[in-house]
Amino acid sequence: MCGVIGYVGDAEAAPIIVKALRNLEYRGYDSAGIATLAFGRVWAEKDIGKLDQVCQTHQLDSLPGSTGIGHVRWATHGEVTPVNAHPHFDCKREIAVAHNGIIENYQELRTRLEHNHLFVSQTDTEVIPHLLEEFVDAGASLEEAVLKTTKLLRGSYAIVAVSLKDPGKVVASRKDSPLVVGRNDGKNFVSSDVLAFLEQTNRVAYLEDGETVVLTKDIVFLDAEGRQLQKEFREVDWKCDEATRQGYEFFMMKEIMEEPHAIRCAAMQDKRLLLEMAIGILRSRQVVLTACGTSRYAALVGRYLFSRLGGKFCDVIMASEFQYFSDSIDRNTLVIAISQSGETADVIEGVKRARANGATIYSLVNTVGSTLARMSERVLYLNCGPEIGVAATKTFMSQLTLLYMLAFTMANQMDEGLAKILDICPKIEKCFSKNSKKIWGLAQRTKGSNDFYYIARGINFAIAAEGALKMKEISYVHAEGMPAGELKHGTLALIDKGTPVVVICPKDYTYEETIANAHETKARGAFLIGVSEAANPIFDDWIEVPSVEEIFQPLVTVVPLQLLAYYSAVARDRDPDKPRNLAKSVTVK
Ligand code: M6R
Repeated sequence: MCGVIGYVGDAEAAPIIVKALRNLEYRGYDSAGIATLAFGRVWAEKDIGKLDQVCQTHQLDSLPGSTGIGHVRWATHGEVTPVNAHPHFDCKREIAVAHNGIIENYQELRTRLEHNHLFVSQTDTEVIPHLLEEFVDAGASLEEAVLKTTKLLRGSYAIVAVSLKDPGKVVASRKDSPLVVGRNDGKNFVSSDVLAFLEQTNRVAYLEDGETVVLTKDIVFLDAEGRQLQKEFREVDWKCDEATRQGYEFFMMKEIMEEPHAIRCAAMQDKRLLLEMAIGILRSRQVVLTACGTSRYAALVGRYLFSRLGGKFCDVIMASEFQYFSDSIDRNTLVIAISQSGETADVIEGVKRARANGATIYSLVNTVGSTLARMSERVLYLNCGPEIGVAATKTFMSQLTLLYMLAFTMANQMDEGLAKILDICPKIEKCFSKNSKKIWGLAQRTKGSNDFYYIARGINFAIAAEGALKMKEISYVHAEGMPAGELKHGTLALIDKGTPVVVICPKDYTYEETIANAHETKARGAFLIGVSEAANPIFDDWIEVPSVEEIFQPLVTVVPLQLLAYYSAVARDRDPDKPRNLAKSVTVK
């Protein structure tokens, strides 16, 4: 999703901003641009396409000046065109603005401004520089203008702005879209993502909704009324080399390979915190897990674990639908929100409403200091380092690990649970070495198939759904994951000669029934790919997974499915790290 960066410092701004934008590329974008201040003018270049291409065509990093802003855009309002790329300008091109989020009342504001302002784009953002212009022309400083402008905006925003009348200054403000401020000797940053400037500094402070920051050689925080705020800077313990490919062709493969390590890191939690959270879950009248996408599939596994190990039933509600259940969320409800980024707009919105109804919020988050983490009474961090590939892989494993740890703690078996989880890691490592070549062959063999089905029962149902999501997301192949028993209630009609059906069927109490469902597809000509510790003559191809205790199966069955999606993407010449139309951090609803 869009990324913004603002910089003020001793060094030339443009190369630093371009590097920051490069670090934001992983979020997904379709155009890029920057603006700097120097020699009494705003210098700006922007265009559609990949950053390298925009840089080459427009020599972005040679723009002069030591103050500037930058943006990578993921289109929401207005097509992907050069003029819709950010930054946007006022009429005199003295103010430049980059924005993440959606201004819901932009039509109304634009209609009001249009009689004496010249609009050139179709974006919602463009109203912002024109509003700033009105206030600056009336004598306001840039920060005063930002404070006044934000009072007129409805919707979500993370804005960064520069103005010729305030050289050496970047002003940024947020509502429902993240902004983090970084400080280093002589270099100050503000961005939607700490990874943008992590090479320069890991000392950060977070803006809350309604707050504004003024970057000059100093950093001043303001509340919505313009009163100064004191904020503590803290250190983020992510290392910048964690955000490099380290010899792998794609981040996604590197991140899959990091899974055993990620599990070990996630398992090492503060025992007291785990205990408090487990007690909180057991004592709550109702527990709701909420999340989106892959995080929601982790929640579905969690629901099973809480019931199986902790004897506690809980529900899983898709975050984008959560608000519609507000009527039954109250102070007796515990909400466990799961989000890698901690910034997913649907999750944040659901949690906000639940909080307003008095619910208690726990969260499982990877990004320290993210909005969700700050909204939660208790947080367990995944501790697996940044995940750059848009497809969630190692963070899924870390989320599962935290859910196992909570469930074992609910059952008063924290230490045993920990030992068992750590025992799985070498088995996953073996699974990579044993299966990679075979799965690559399978990806080649199924290259012409445009529909995949994934079936499983019990705890593995969520893994079938996750396997299908991975396949869709990065290979652009239609895929569906479902409980094996559901097939004959409709989907079976789609099974045809050669249709790949992935059957996840560990040798447990679900085995016989799942195999029976697989037979139903085989009878219609399906090409069966078995994922199991045991071979079965009906499989056309068999991916062997290590034999583990039944509740741990998701940790081993998901690995070949991630690899199958990855190799299928590569075999079809797709970039698995940056799937089309998708973003790493989905900060709009
Ligand atoms: O950051 P989050 O965990 O809240 O993200 C939720 C989903 O957008 C995310 O899991 C998405 O489904 C993944 N890209 C799937 O691989």
